[in-house]
Amino acid sequence: MQERLMVALDVSNREQALAMRERLGSAVGWLKVGLRLFVAEGPELVRQLKSTHRIFLDLKFHDIPNTVAQAVESAGGLGVDMVNVHAGGGASMLRAAAEAKKDFPAMKLIAVTVLTSDPMSAERARRLVLDRAMLARDCGLDGVVCSVHEVEAIKRACGRDFLTVTPGIRWAGQDAQDQKRVAGPDMAVRVGSDFLVIGRPILQAADPLAAAAEALVMMRKAAEAISE
Ligand code: C5P
Repeated sequence: MQERLMVALDVSNREQALAMRERLGSAVGWLKVGLRLFVAEGPELVRQLKSTHRIFLDLKFHDIPNTVAQAVESAGGLGVDMVNVHAGGGASMLRAAAEAKKDFPAMKLIAVTVLTSDPMSAERARRLVLDRAMLARDCGLDGVVCSVHEVEAIKRACGRDFLTVTPGIRWAGQDAQDQKRVAGPDMAVRVGSDFLVIGRPILQAADPLAAAAEALVMMRKAAEAISE
């Protein structure tokens, strides 16, 4: 289950990032580097984090096709295991990204569908997410970022191997904060999410390792219940 858990390292600097990595150790398989940390510390820190964990570079590229393709190439050169673009960029942008990714077969290319913080109605989100997921699949991407609530429909429409990466994970009465379409780690596993992204419930916990362990226990129990 560690290999399905991604911790969003949304901290402000290298020291905090390395301290969090140290606290979590091998309890989690993936570290997600997003805008805050990347803007502050850049590729050097990514190289450092790569030595112990798989890395999801979550910069949500959204620009003209040529620029996005070049950014995907740079991510591939950096050696990250997963990178994402925004599906709102349209078909030609997604195809250019997928083309650029071909030189880096080990790297997964994922499209953000609709932000899990977007306040649009659940029905509208479901439709838009599904449309964008099918577009991403048709353009040759490996999967999408979506909420737990959309995973089953995406798997049905795009196939079981099409990856779903789900942020908006909350449990035990935790505050949803700016997230809207939230669900627990157990439900995420039950519906077949491939990767769970967890940020503040772990980062802001008094004991981040214990919070990660708690999520992992819920994930394991849900997986066991499925296989019974
Ligand atoms: O703190 P929290 O668990 O809400 O963090 C979720 C992480 O997932 C953040 O780093 C956020 O940028 C990222 N994310 C998201 N929704 C998306 C794509 C990424 O919340 N659609």
